[in-house]
Amino acid sequence: MSKLVAGNWKMFGDQNMLSEIKVIDQYCHKIDCEVAICPPFQLILSAHQQTKNIKIGAQNCHINANGPHTGEVSAEMLIDVGAELILVGHSERRQDNNETNKIIKQKAEAVQRAGATAVVCIGETLEERKADRTLQVLQEQMLNCLPKNVNPKNTVVAYEPVWAIGTGLVPEIDQIRSAHSFIRGFLASTFGAEAHNVKILYGGSVKGSNAREIFSISNVNGALVGGASLKSSDFIEIIKAAS
Ligand code: PGA
Repeated sequence: MSKLVAGNWKMFGDQNMLSEIKVIDQYCHKIDCEVAICPPFQLILSAHQQTKNIKIGAQNCHINANGPHTGEVSAEMLIDVGAELILVGHSERRQDNNETNKIIKQKAEAVQRAGATAVVCIGETLEERKADRTLQVLQEQMLNCLPKNVNPKNTVVAYEPVWAIGTGLVPEIDQIRSAHSFIRGFLASTFGAEAHNVKILYGGSVKGSNAREIFSISNVNGALVGGASLKSSDFIEIIKAAS
């Protein structure tokens, strides 16, 4: 399966930074992995218009298609301006916006309804890892966040240990392998044969220097990259490792 390298720009980026997206897009001409950038909302349309080889995504959406929800944006609206994938359940949103598994499931359903790919983020905190609860937490999150019909087109799962995000800490290779193999097993037993092709991304302090080793782990089908996706030269190092 081809790998997917997705950049999550979080709340960083103004119009000047579209030039980084253009450099990444040019590099991605004729490579054999998929690349996506999820910039903040206000850059999605321009990023979409200025790229040919990469996908543009969003970092969040509302559960409804439209309605009296001041300040919100729907999956349908994001698709209208060029988003093809939408992150749901990122740990920063779980923390900052009190997003529960139930809300995340509704958002993933909204993304499916609209016709884009939901990148559903799951992952344990440091306390949960120390208490040896990692796999249990991942199972609870998958049971409660994933919609009924999961297939390779409508869903990507991103495993992001909360303690590895933005910290420079990366789990041991064996820890990543065991989490990804557990996620694959859950997907296969819940959604059947098609789920073997659902991409499972690793996220948390991925950079050019560790990407190759992470991509060599079985059931790691790509990466969700925060900090190292903001500069084209850093991000291209990760794309090289995947392609
Ligand atoms: P990081 O962020 O690569 O900066 O650790 C990953 C993420 O939040 O998706």
